[in-house]
Amino acid sequence: MFLKGRDLLSIHDLGVDEVEELLDFAAELKTMCKMDATPHLLKGKTLGMIFEKSSTRTRVSFEVGMFQLGGSALFLSNRDLQLGRGEPIKDTARVLSRYLDGIMIRTFGHDRLVEFAKYADIPIINGLSDLLHPCQVLTDLLTIREFKGKRFKDLKMAYVGDGNNMANSYLYGAAKVGMALTVATPQNHKPNDEVFKNALADAEKTGAQLQWTEDPIAAVKDADVIATDTWASMGQEAEHDERKKIFAPYQVNEELLSHAHKSAIVMHCLPAYRGEEITDEVFERNADVIFEEAENRLHVQKAIMAATMR
Ligand code: CP
Ligand code: NVA
Repeated sequence: MFLKGRDLLSIHDLGVDEVEELLDFAAELKTMCKMDATPHLLKGKTLGMIFEKSSTRTRVSFEVGMFQLGGSALFLSNRDLQLGRGEPIKDTARVLSRYLDGIMIRTFGHDRLVEFAKYADIPIINGLSDLLHPCQVLTDLLTIREFKGKRFKDLKMAYVGDGNNMANSYLYGAAKVGMALTVATPQNHKPNDEVFKNALADAEKTGAQLQWTEDPIAAVKDADVIATDTWASMGQEAEHDERKKIFAPYQVNEELLSHAHKSAIVMHCLPAYRGEEITDEVFERNADVIFEEAENRLHVQKAIMAATMR
């Protein structure tokens, strides 16, 4: 199986063909799921899920996905693990490798994931770090393919808002599939420099046009897909009020969308804060896309787990 025994910390680590293969596999698993015929590809296997931040979708979709694949999942909160009391990552990783077949981790610093992966000898899956959210963006790619057709190279995407883990992962994702992406953020909230540099290097191979602008109107012009995300990510709660002011011109509302294609779809990884990064009107008009996107987490993560953990 492709990706067998590998970690999934970043889309940047995947080959161009591996991204397409993963999306095809996820689509296949989605079809089988609808027929109530998900194969038990991970029978007898156990996934550990370490959460150092809150989650609704990631927790439930990984746990249910593992169950559908015939395996089981353990929810491991940082509050209960000795890790939360200072046990080193390198010890935790080596101990858990003796019990489990794979670990999904949601944490703060991306370096924590990298260290976990260095010491674990089972696949480590990034369930979100401050830097990246690869499972979500792979899911978004599947959703874009479903709503807009298969040819990423003919599509143009805009991301409007904070240059956060979602913006960084969209850059990696678009670069791998050859999709044009313009990221619009305030000058002081640009995506990560190193991510942008790596994504541009990947884009040279696929022909993806990656751009940054401060102007949300310029970004959405001609876009087929528009995505946004919260202005205050987990860990930035104290900056919420200040961020609301800074990001106000980046709200995805009807006025902004009047500059986009009429057929443009709006995506959101959720949770959404209506009246901040997106208006209720725009959200509800795109609810079909947004909730399909949420459902697709389940199918894409089953593909990731079955590919890496078998
Ligand atoms: N989109 C997403 O990762 O949602 P949760 O924070 O609920 O897991
Ligand atoms: N950027 C958000 C994504 C939530 C799924 C956060 O990190 O909180």
